[in-house]
Amino acid sequence: DLALRPPAPSASGGVATEPAAESAAATSDSGSAASESLHGGNTVPFYGRHQAGIATEPQAHVTYVSLTLLDHVDRAALTRLMRLLTDDAARLTQGRPALADSEPELGTAPARLTVTFGFGPGFIARAGGVAPDWLGPLPPFGIDRLDPAWAEGDLLIQVASDDALTRAHAIRMLLKDTRTFASVGWTQAGFRRARGTEQSGTTMRNLFGQVDGTVNLTPGTDDFDELVWCPDGWLAGGTSLVLRRIQMNLDTWDRLDRGGREQSVGRFLSNGAPLTGSGEHDEPDFTATTPIGFPVIPEFSHLARARSENAKERIFRRGYNYDETPLGGSVSNSGLLFASFQADVTAQFVPIQRRLDELDLLNEWTTPIGSSVFAVPPGCAEGGFVGETLLG
Ligand code: HEM
Repeated sequence: DLALRPPAPSASGGVATEPAAESAAATSDSGSAASESLHGGNTVPFYGRHQAGIATEPQAHVTYVSLTLLDHVDRAALTRLMRLLTDDAARLTQGRPALADSEPELGTAPARLTVTFGFGPGFIARAGGVAPDWLGPLPPFGIDRLDPAWAEGDLLIQVASDDALTRAHAIRMLLKDTRTFASVGWTQAGFRRARGTEQSGTTMRNLFGQVDGTVNLTPGTDDFDELVWCPDGWLAGGTSLVLRRIQMNLDTWDRLDRGGREQSVGRFLSNGAPLTGSGEHDEPDFTATTPIGFPVIPEFSHLARARSENAKERIFRRGYNYDETPLGGSVSNSGLLFASFQADVTAQFVPIQRRLDELDLLNEWTTPIGSSVFAVPPGCAEGGFVGETLLG
């Protein structure tokens, strides 16, 4: 029974079990149970050197929850809190209800549920630890219109699953355990295509219709290991998360023709190929010119500006779409939960964002409205807890 496959051992702590006949549903429209491939029972290992939910192939749904610690919470309380949350996450991600789960039936279909924790400066200060020098608000950028409502918190929980009901239940169980330690600052929910709509591994599309995530670090490669995981200190095996809430103005984007849309990024909308190629993963040719001498890929396109000549200035992007209630007579209130993981925010993320801030055609239709940075500790072994390298 595919739905009950046990979790496979994983070195990275992040690789999900895959049903063997996964593509069956994609080719059948009968809707009968026999032709469906169920994936509710799929699990991602919780324990490991790295936390799950980073190298894990992105699930369909995510919610980021930012918590603010209550005044009385000290180092000992933080240890209790992280032990409790680790236990919840270890159970729920493996399809076992949380302790004293009020709706245990909702805890049995993890659908690749992962729970990933990140620490803000406030958490690390209360733990008596030393924060990495890149932790804190990013330098200000000219394009920013930041709403303090989406600012840094003390503790971040990223909850992701292919099933939105599973995600909601997991968040509720986790928050019940944080109640006496912290209050919720904000939550930000995002989505990609439902699992089974496309072959897994297909690059996601954002709400501009663009193929988004083509050039990215690849989990399991040396590049990924070197550029994503922190090498030393209590963060060894951990990483950083930059989460930017970027509003995408679909209403003004609507006025741009298809050619203009493709020029703004430097890639075709049909399949994400560079304007100088035909396949999604073709290398862009920045030297190619049109018959009248203009670069085929505009110099100020997002592609040209986001790419660095310095191979160290690369990040792992793992973003999600958001779509909320339209405000003030507009038709949409949508955008990207831009999420990137990198070993060093200052050395890797900031130079890219600086270049995009100076010039990027895409800026015409996008506005960063929220920004936060978290230190993401390493994973733990069974019997341990996430955060033990800081609190232990
Ligand atoms: C590439 C969209 C914000 C960094 C791309 C691509 C698209 C895209 C369509 C081309 C396909 C790909 O390689 O993924 C967007 C949208 C954004 C946004 C809609 C905002 C709403 C950002 C931000 C950063 C960033 C804030 C980092 C500060 C990159 C990088 C690439 C890229 C590094 C790959 C460039 C290369 O080919 O080497 N983005 N992006 N993007 N983007 Fe963005």
